Amino acid sequence: MQKNKQMMWMGIAVLMSLTLLLTVSTEFAAAAGKEAKIGLAFSMTGAAAGYGSTQKNGVQLAVDEINAAAGADGLKLIPIFDDDASTPQQGVNVFNKFINADKVSLIIGPTLSNTAQVSNRIAQQAGVPVLGISNTAKGITEIGDFIFRNSLTEMVVIPNTVKVAKEKLKISKVAVLYGNDDAFTKAGYEAFKIALQGAGITIINEQTFAKGDRDFSPQLTQIKSQNPDAIVVSALVEEASGIVSQARKLDIPKSVPIIGGNGFNSPGLMKNAGDAAEGVIVGAAWNTSSSSSLNRKFVEAYNNKYGSLPDQFAAQAYAGVYIAYQALSKAPSPDNHKAIRDALAQIKGMNTVLGNFSFTDGRDADYIPVVQIVKDGKFAIFGE
Ligand code: ALA
Repeated sequence: MQKNKQMMWMGIAVLMSLTLLLTVSTEFAAAAGKEAKIGLAFSMTGAAAGYGSTQKNGVQLAVDEINAAAGADGLKLIPIFDDDASTPQQGVNVFNKFINADKVSLIIGPTLSNTAQVSNRIAQQAGVPVLGISNTAKGITEIGDFIFRNSLTEMVVIPNTVKVAKEKLKISKVAVLYGNDDAFTKAGYEAFKIALQGAGITIINEQTFAKGDRDFSPQLTQIKSQNPDAIVVSALVEEASGIVSQARKLDIPKSVPIIGGNGFNSPGLMKNAGDAAEGVIVGAAWNTSSSSSLNRKFVEAYNNKYGSLPDQFAAQAYAGVYIAYQALSKAPSPDNHKAIRDALAQIKGMNTVLGNFSFTDGRDADYIPVVQIVKDGKFAIFGE
């Protein structure tokens, strides 16, 4: 009798172990030997074309590394790139194609918040996860629980930029110039306004412009006549470059620094504005000199592959693919969008080239921003 009982318990134990083994190996087997398509919607043309090419480079580098490391049995990524043309309408077209024709596991992009505000609603409705890697305006992740981003928002980066600028430059009155036709440039303006007020800095003049404007001399002449301690600008890189070079051409001296937000974070600024860009202060989500070994390897690999140093947009793209891959690897299948979403939401304390990365409960990026200054044609950490 006693022996029978023992045999029965042993049998149950063996059965339980087998079930556990089966569950664990199914989990591991979930990703093995599979492929996941990721849709990449970047601005290769239009107002934000200055960012799209380095985003594409960052993604391609990460995909190549991941696929090489995956081996025969690992999960491989199939990137599908498309141009969102910097417009909401084309963003919607590309998202529809990714979701309905390509049947992607996840979408990375689009480049502009202005586009994401519209295109991301399509993905949310279809239940396809989106990872923004450059959207910094407010209201993007609020679209729904399938929308994530690894790009620090203006509301996170700008207060830090203003705080550091005030400490180091002793500014007390500034002029503000911003694009009033774009979700990101407007969000940057609002973030600057709140941060400046909070820091006790007076805004003595406010000027606006629109995407595609080339002549900023009327606004800058007005600003010059008011003698501000600094000029605060919320602009995409094309307009930012024009503003910076025209300010110096109008003899606003370099002792009146220009302070910019996320849109300035492109080598296009130095390329287009040249020497006028020296001394420009820029809030950022990443700097090339970040000393982690992961970042050093990334900068070197990027430089080897493309013959130039990565910018912040490339770093966010590169980190974005690794973040997406972590979630894709945990999902039981590449078409289980809900499981991919759930796995993204669980990412906390991940070692990335951006730093120690977590998603907040609201699916926004959580890590430490930096403040940069343009020095000898490069972005250096401000104050070092
Ligand atoms: N940071 C810019 C945006 O959000 C590119 O639109």
